[in-house]
Amino acid sequence: MSGGSPSARTLIALETSCDETAAAVLRGTELLASEVASQVAIHRQFGGVVPEVASRNHLRALKPVISRALDAAGLSIDRIDAFAATSGPGLASSLMIGASAAKGLAVSLRKPYLSVNHIEGHLLSPFFGDARGVRPSVGLVVSGGHTLLLEIEALGKYRLLGQTQDDAAGEAFDKVGKLLGLPYPGGPNVDRLAAQGDPKRFDFPRSMMDSSDFHFSFSGLKTSVRYLLPKLETLPLPDLCASFQEAVVDVLVAKTLRAARVTRSKVIAVSGGVSCNSRLREKFRAACEKRGLELLIAPPSLCTDNAAMIGYVAALRFANGERSPLDSDIDPNLRLVSTN
Ligand code: KG4
Ligand code: ZN
Repeated sequence: MSGGSPSARTLIALETSCDETAAAVLRGTELLASEVASQVAIHRQFGGVVPEVASRNHLRALKPVISRALDAAGLSIDRIDAFAATSGPGLASSLMIGASAAKGLAVSLRKPYLSVNHIEGHLLSPFFGDARGVRPSVGLVVSGGHTLLLEIEALGKYRLLGQTQDDAAGEAFDKVGKLLGLPYPGGPNVDRLAAQGDPKRFDFPRSMMDSSDFHFSFSGLKTSVRYLLPKLETLPLPDLCASFQEAVVDVLVAKTLRAARVTRSKVIAVSGGVSCNSRLREKFRAACEKRGLELLIAPPSLCTDNAAMIGYVAALRFANGERSPLDSDIDPNLRLVSTN
């Protein structure tokens, strides 16, 4: 792996933008350790993420997570050359915990600080561990908060092709999961049930699939599922999950492949929590193979929120000589490109 030589510089990256408290240690672009303390069980009782509960739990979990990451990497904190953290987008009170910790460590140990955009972390995660680094491609980011289609030219050079006009893909999975009475978060539970269901049983709408732009819309699909609720008890849940999932995946695959065609890209990089979805992975694999496109999807541990992806972006920027000012703020609405 590139950047993994013993002389390469080390960094620790912190991710606390939503409900996962995460720390990762890298040497160059080699991952030495990645630790995630999930708060999912805590938020499940509320049916979603409660911001104040999330920030309090970050405060509690962050120090042990950092210690575990350093132990796993076999490094003490004074051997770390730079400190990085997600600065947005996300929940303000959650972002502040990780960013303040990274800045505090940077100040006290007199080392550089680097802030990282969470979406960029997801976007570039499929390239992590690939010796060829970030390559020209079409990037699809599908998470709980974002659904974006971008043209990737190189590190920091992205062109927005399209994005969701309403719900993010993961949000649609979670809302439909909730409608169907599944535990939070809906995505993995819909995926699990769909594995035993018939994806053709219900013909849900594929909104905007054939529109000439690269935008998405998932709220109509969610409404179609809601119309079936009065009859829910008589309907097979696995078939509902499989049919809903098929509609989301069909749109994502069709638009991404069209974007590759229009931009003449040979590589597709799919990222974000929804890229864990087994049907999405299967359909992207089959479609890319058919068209002779190279598909990059990170392993599931790098798809959902983690600090390794934040560390990867930080490592690339650190190697380029970039640093972030210590008075830089967090930004809950941080954008990746000016129009998203
Ligand atoms: O990237 P991520 O961890 O957090 C955000 O930045 O939002 O994505 C979380 C989202 C949630 O909506 C979750 O339901 C969804 O990813 N997700 C899945 C699967 N695993 C996670 N959606 C569908 N199928 C899955 N297997
Ligand atoms: Zn995320």
